[in-house]
Amino acid sequence: APASSGDWPRSRCRAGSGPGAPRDSGPGRRWLLSTPIFYVNGPPHIGHLYSALLADALHRHRGLLGPGSGRLATGTDEHGLKIQQAAAAAGTAPSELCSHVSGLFRDLFFRAAVSFTDFIRTTEPRHRRAVQCFWAALQGRGLLYKDFYEGWYCTPDECFLTQAQITERPDAQGRPCKVSLESGHQVHWTKEENYMFKLSEFQEPLRKWLQGNRHVISPEPFYQVVLRWLEEDLPDLSVSRERNRLQWGIPVPGDSTQTIYVWVDALVNYLTVAGYPDAHHAWWPAAHHVVGKDILKFHAIYWPALLMAVGLDPPEQIYVHSHWTVRGQKMSKSLGNVVDPVACFKQYTVDGFRYFLLRQGVPERDCDYYEEKVIKLVNSELADALGGLLNRCIAPSINPSGIYPHFSESCFRKGSDHIDVEASGRALAEDYELVASVDRLPLQVTDYFEHFQIYKALESVVACVRQTNGFFQRHTPWKLCRDNPAEKCWLDTVLHVTLECLRIYGILLQPVIPATADKLLSRLSIKPEERAFTDLTFLPRYHGKPCPFEGRKLGPDMGALFPRLETPRGHQMEIKGLRP
Ligand code: MSP
Repeated sequence: APASSGDWPRSRCRAGSGPGAPRDSGPGRRWLLSTPIFYVNGPPHIGHLYSALLADALHRHRGLLGPGSGRLATGTDEHGLKIQQAAAAAGTAPSELCSHVSGLFRDLFFRAAVSFTDFIRTTEPRHRRAVQCFWAALQGRGLLYKDFYEGWYCTPDECFLTQAQITERPDAQGRPCKVSLESGHQVHWTKEENYMFKLSEFQEPLRKWLQGNRHVISPEPFYQVVLRWLEEDLPDLSVSRERNRLQWGIPVPGDSTQTIYVWVDALVNYLTVAGYPDAHHAWWPAAHHVVGKDILKFHAIYWPALLMAVGLDPPEQIYVHSHWTVRGQKMSKSLGNVVDPVACFKQYTVDGFRYFLLRQGVPERDCDYYEEKVIKLVNSELADALGGLLNRCIAPSINPSGIYPHFSESCFRKGSDHIDVEASGRALAEDYELVASVDRLPLQVTDYFEHFQIYKALESVVACVRQTNGFFQRHTPWKLCRDNPAEKCWLDTVLHVTLECLRIYGILLQPVIPATADKLLSRLSIKPEERAFTDLTFLPRYHGKPCPFEGRKLGPDMGALFPRLETPRGHQMEIKGLRP
């Protein structure tokens, strides 16, 4: 029987989805993370990179739980009218355009250290087979019918729009033209015979699914948006185009006059990478999709409905992010303000730019990119606060033996009332606050990652880095005399606590700045197998446990942890108003 009987969810309530419960974590848990697959009608920009980095950071963070239980898929969306037209405009064959631009995305993600485990192209045979099987499953369940579709189509967005979703604006020549209210792209009236999917039958099942899974779409405001959409009419969806208009796509099985709608084709990529139609059960529905807000409807309404229609569970999680603007303006080819991520890597380094996007990107709202902001943030937080801290506590002048120094319990006593100097050795009340903050940090960071608030995770790491700088500054270890045994004991303890803080920050920053974190941890002589969640016990000696790092020879000096970025000269003049 068709799965559209309104009885969703069947077995969909995830364990641990209640408030405060750990979500999707824990060893042995599987996840199939995905980025959207990217259109190949133009080269990648920083918005695309942001989608991929969010997914990469989540993937790497979960990887800290232990290897082998997760995958990250990305790739390119290569069919459709938009690509057909872009190839025609460029005077090239669609297949050539696709290979070229798909290569640009793949190359970008390699450079950006996006840790994908699969890169899918929708022109691959494995995907064609998956889409055709999916189509046959829809048809077999009686959920497709042929009808005359009449309405507005927006090719740049590859979507159908209702009258309420369009408006009229003058085009470049001042002639009135119909455009999408949301994207501003031009729409065209389309009238043709298509296959229609009985989407309307899924309104109630979708509602039930969402009501039973309050955390399935995050952040929460986007969940509310989807619920509101479901209060409106949900018309059936045209899922094919006449082949004489759209040749660049997967043909409808058994009907050579029709091509499968590019969004059905694209969404099925998530099943293809899971091994559909033969081997997806090991991974489905452990799908966690990262998507931009512009494609939320496709992922939170069409996709779950299509899955229910073929008897599969909807994805476990949809993470939604907002958009990047450039100096307050939407990025667009016509404005000429599209920012090339490869140029950003050259200017700010890969980790510098990864850090900027993930630290400044707030999923709930659009964020603005401009050069001075990147330079200021990265210099202040990576070069000065983090790099400076490492530099200060590891320099040969302060630690001539070059070993992970010893911690002394008599200098830094464990206890609850630490105001009394005698009882606490030389540690002060603020020092105990630092220990408490860093002790709390791993869980805090994990919680923020799991709620898709990576920027907040970074904010809390930076707050601790600053607290540690304060600790170091407070005790002026450079003034302590190594020849005096009591002072040496305290000096080593101050250095030990600082290195322990840095070790925790290094482990927690791996998902965001993997190369810098590696450099930091290597300098501290932390082995690759000592960099997981289970190694996040902070200051074990303070907690009465042995510390495996004490007395260990530190790693070689590889220079500054993070290079300070220079403001291009022209810009300095512009900022100071010196430009003539
Ligand atoms: N091909 C579809 C997705 C199909 S997934 C089954 C598509 N491609 S896209 O290339 O246009 O967009 C890919 C991702 O990039 C989307 O998540 C989109 O939100 C994101 N971004 C595109 N421009 C963006 C910004 N300016 N800022 C942030 N992300 C943006 O949609």
